[in-house]
Amino acid sequence: MPDPGADVARNRALWTIVNSEYTDGQADQAWAAAEITWGLFQVPERDLGVLGDVAGLDVIELGCGTAYLSSWLARRGARPVGVDVTPAQLATAARCQERFGLAFPLVEGDAEDVPLPDASFDLAVSEYGASVWCDPGRWVAEAARLLRPGGRLVFLTNSVLATLCVPEEDGFAQERLLRPQRALSRVDWPGGGIEFHPSHGDWIRVLRASGFVVEALHELYAPADAETNGYYGIATAEWARRWPVEDLWAARLPHRP
Ligand SMILES: C[S@@+](CC[C@H](N)C(=O)[O-])C[C@H]1O[C@@H](n2cnc3c(N)ncnc32)[C@H](O)[C@@H]1O
Repeated sequence: MPDPGADVARNRALWTIVNSEYTDGQADQAWAAAEITWGLFQVPERDLGVLGDVAGLDVIELGCGTAYLSSWLARRGARPVGVDVTPAQLATAARCQERFGLAFPLVEGDAEDVPLPDASFDLAVSEYGASVWCDPGRWVAEAARLLRPGGRLVFLTNSVLATLCVPEEDGFAQERLLRPQRALSRVDWPGGGIEFHPSHGDWIRVLRASGFVVEALHELYAPADAETNGYYGIATAEWARRWPVEDLWAARLPHRP
């Protein structure tokens, strides 16, 4: 049986390295972006309308990293709180807060066990955060606990198809299936971290088990002018123009539990 504490420690160590290699250097540019976009190929939120009007909402970002998504929401009138398990990522977020004059709480903690009270948020978001790096049953249950009745959960993760096509060693998604779908629920990357990639059916089951109603699954492709991200070797822009590279889920708790 995998040890959840060991998984968290592995992922924290990985993200400490990724912070020094990449995310710390990218954070100012990400914070400065004028537009809300989603994922590796920056699909504009205005084309999707997943978040709606966030002004006045209490928002929790689970696995916020350098917290650029929270910063975009704060600039639109939301009150975000960022939660992340990696101190280096939060240090970058704090530096950006000072640089951009935009302060909101940053909490060091595990998105599977968040040290915040029940029913204190209207919207929970995760962009490649808990949505990839945490056990789905545990973090989705935490999101449900943290949300008020009627609250929404919006999260982005790699598409199931891309995950099936990415080689075990470094490299972009291929045009063939390289791993069994049955092996996706917990993926232990050699030399990397531990990721969780439920199938679409499993996501629906996990969301429903925590009381969520699924609103939408947006399958994201790369826009025509998108370029390949050289650091995250997941899929080339060419691949992602042909097949869905990311899954963006939206779910809601009922108004009356
Ligand atoms: C890809 S970053 C997500 C942030 C940002 N949206 C981005 O794309 O850079 C993944 C983040 O998840 C965080 N993370 C991994 N495991 C976590 C856990 N158990 N609880 C909270 N955060 C976690 C990592 O520390 C990292 O900052």
